[in-house]
Amino acid sequence: MTHGFETLAIHAGQDPEARTGAVIPPIYQTSTYAQDAVGSPRLGYEYSRSANPTRDALQECLAALEAGRVGLAFASGLAAEDTLLRTVCKPGDHVVIPDDAYGGTYRLFAKVAERWGLAYTPARVSDADAVRAAIRPGVTKVVWVETPTNPLLGIADIATLATVAHDAGALLVVDNTFASPYLQQPLTLGADVVVHSTTKYVGGHSDVVGGALVAADTDLGEQLRYHQNAMGAVNGPFDAWLTLRGIKTLGVRMDRHCDNAERIVAYLDGHAKVGRVLYPGLPSHPGHEVAAKQMRRFGGMISFRAAGGEEHAVEICNRARLFVLAESLGGVESLIEHPGRMTHASAAGSPLEVPSDLVRLSVGIETVEDLLADLEQALG
Ligand SMILES: Cc1ncc(COP(=O)(O)O)c(C=O)c1O
Repeated sequence: MTHGFETLAIHAGQDPEARTGAVIPPIYQTSTYAQDAVGSPRLGYEYSRSANPTRDALQECLAALEAGRVGLAFASGLAAEDTLLRTVCKPGDHVVIPDDAYGGTYRLFAKVAERWGLAYTPARVSDADAVRAAIRPGVTKVVWVETPTNPLLGIADIATLATVAHDAGALLVVDNTFASPYLQQPLTLGADVVVHSTTKYVGGHSDVVGGALVAADTDLGEQLRYHQNAMGAVNGPFDAWLTLRGIKTLGVRMDRHCDNAERIVAYLDGHAKVGRVLYPGLPSHPGHEVAAKQMRRFGGMISFRAAGGEEHAVEICNRARLFVLAESLGGVESLIEHPGRMTHASAAGSPLEVPSDLVRLSVGIETVEDLLADLEQALG
């Protein structure tokens, strides 16, 4: 399909069902499928770990939205990441990882994959020379980046890093969770695989946990599909259905997330109780120009330093009312959190430790004046 983004979000992989004309893909809540004869599964469906029509609809839609060849849906973002790593790496290999990333992603590399013989080096993803220097020629199989990064909102130049990775014979993997495919399509800029926690903007309603991989290339995509089945961390049919329902409004939601975030950044920037505001849409952000080049807009995530230090940051989080104090992000409701003690606690003492006075906002799509009023009282 060569349609626009919103058309693909609503229709890709979602033709009306052949038998009844159901406009919405049904939830095929079945583990197995009757076969017409031994070795003759209907339409290739034999067991729902291997393939399920509801998951197929989601996977086709994800591939279309990321302009990739193969989309795959998993039980969580981390399940997707694990499947990717064990498909493209083996013991003795090395990966370059971001020096700012989701704490759980860091934990996967530091506490799980390393024990199985996969070495890693953190590098600043906004600095192509630092990434190049971290590569071990012949040993590095993956350059892994988030952009924007979680939670410091650093920006990686995807096209430049694709060249850096490919020159070294490595793959470029981009975690596109913070941007969503509406704001940024890494595969069109040269990345090989996109990772998502679909729990976030893609699902968009804080009601389902899931993950995705989208590959630019069919061969790699089919290797990933083989491992999806062989390792088994698949997205269930009801979860796939909820995620697909969320995707239909991804474009309009992202525009409102961006509108609200821009208003809130304008309010926070220069506020007496607020230190530095981290948002790639600010012209003063070091990654602003690269972000403007590769993103449609700058997203709904904002981080800022509390002027009064760690205790002040914690107080702001505790005082917020409309901004719900909770982990996760990307839903229609606004969330606030203290990364150092919450989402990134597992990075404490590591090169990925986050500043203790940092507050992270996931700006929802509520009436922006209400969000501003809540921040005003929370800042104290
Ligand atoms: C950027 C990013 N990538 C991956 C993940 C992991 O996804 P999940 O929680 O769905 O396993 C998260 C979770 O917060 C995230 O923020």
